[in-house]
Amino acid sequence: MFRLFCPLISLVVLTLVPMVSCLENGTMAKLKKFVNCEPKNYKPSTSIHRDYWVLENYVMAGHGDIPCYANVTYTTHADYTYLDNVVPLLERWRSPLSLAIYAPGTDFEPTIQSILYLLQCHPGNVLVRELCSFHLYFEVEHLPQVVLPPKMALRKQANCGGPPPYENVVKTDMYRARNSLDYPVNLGRNIARRASLTHYVLASDIELYPSPGLVPAYLHFLGHRVIGIPGQQPDSPLVHVLRIFEVMANVSVPNTKPELQEMLKSGEAVPFHMEICEACHKGPKLEEWINAIVVSKDLNVFNVGHRSEDYNHWEPIFLGTVDDPAYDERLTWEGQRDKMTQAYAMCVLDYQFHILDNAFLVHKPGIKQPGKRKAIFSQIHKTNGLINRKILKELRMKYGSRKGCVI
Ligand SMILES: *[C@@H]1O[C@H](CO)[C@@H](O)[C@H](O)[C@H]1NC(C)=O
Ligand SMILES: *[C@@H]1O[C@H](CO)[C@@H](O)[C@H](O)[C@H]1NC(C)=O
Ligand SMILES: *[C@@H]1O[C@H](CO)[C@@H](O)[C@H](O)[C@H]1NC(C)=O
Repeated sequence: MFRLFCPLISLVVLTLVPMVSCLENGTMAKLKKFVNCEPKNYKPSTSIHRDYWVLENYVMAGHGDIPCYANVTYTTHADYTYLDNVVPLLERWRSPLSLAIYAPGTDFEPTIQSILYLLQCHPGNVLVRELCSFHLYFEVEHLPQVVLPPKMALRKQANCGGPPPYENVVKTDMYRARNSLDYPVNLGRNIARRASLTHYVLASDIELYPSPGLVPAYLHFLGHRVIGIPGQQPDSPLVHVLRIFEVMANVSVPNTKPELQEMLKSGEAVPFHMEICEACHKGPKLEEWINAIVVSKDLNVFNVGHRSEDYNHWEPIFLGTVDDPAYDERLTWEGQRDKMTQAYAMCVLDYQFHILDNAFLVHKPGIKQPGKRKAIFSQIHKTNGLINRKILKELRMKYGSRKGCVI
């Protein structure tokens, strides 16, 4: 039987950006053999994790079961005020999205309203229904008033006549702000990644939109370049890094690398957060990457980095797997350095960071000015204390240490 993985839903993207077409038979078979993953039972579940309720798969995606080796899941976290990103993200990604939403106390109700709006009213709702799994979480101490079983919650009618409930929210009025709750970013990251039905994931931030056609191109690349060469399989773990850019608020997000390069030339695009934290995002050979002439539409590795020596504060976003080190759930957004423990573990484990040439992420339009992420010094102080006194010791016990790896 000849099986062609060429789903209808990706036709729009493929005509827009003629990258790799369908995944051929051989690639699928190779991936299946190489990845050797267990399919997950896709169903809603409720559990208590640390001090939190976790409602996994509260809303399930229409795609149902998918082969764990043959797709890539975008895993991410948010509160409901970020849900305007879901459709623009899916329009480009067109593959499974696993989204953990923090919804304590009375933030729960507008969260449900926002999800219903996306599922019922948004012009892009077909994509949301098909591709997005929603998970909700909140502290045991900050329960919502009512949590309906998913089936009942989803039966409710959204108010499609009104504005989207996630727009123009006054953040200081949110339950989270009124109760001075920190945003448990890493718990959200872990929930979303744990719930992924696929072995390969892109653990990212919801405002980062990938270049279109990435998933089929990546699977094709894996089949040909990574696992396609017998006897040359990598001996240390590796992930594939996507470079990140920002564009001006009044321009559209570039679809291809040549488009991006034009915008970088005109100043409509810039590398991500260069003003805020150059060391976190630059990584090796950024200028060379930007200036490289694109000769093929296929994906390839541009260069390889390690998170040590000159790049020991690099926080790359990468295509990896559900088996990569988890994020430390004690670290919060407000305390900053939230990805540092994962990065340290990956340094000790000698992960190779292979930077892809023809794929990238672009932040939701609008160039961030320094200081947008308000420094809350007491929190930063607390985080630093926690890392220095406790976490570092635990990490050394768990992963060992290695020259050049710092936190
Ligand atoms: C496609 O894969 C199947 C196994 O899944 C195999 O039996 C068949 O020969 C393959 N066809 C081609 C054209 O490679
Ligand atoms: C990944 O899964 C989605 C949802 O089923 C599907 O639309 C897409 O085509 C799949 N991608 C590949 C490469 O098979
Ligand atoms: C976008 O705004 C900038 C100023 O902020 C302006 O220089 C540029 O011409 C505008 N571009 C477009 C396409 O409107």
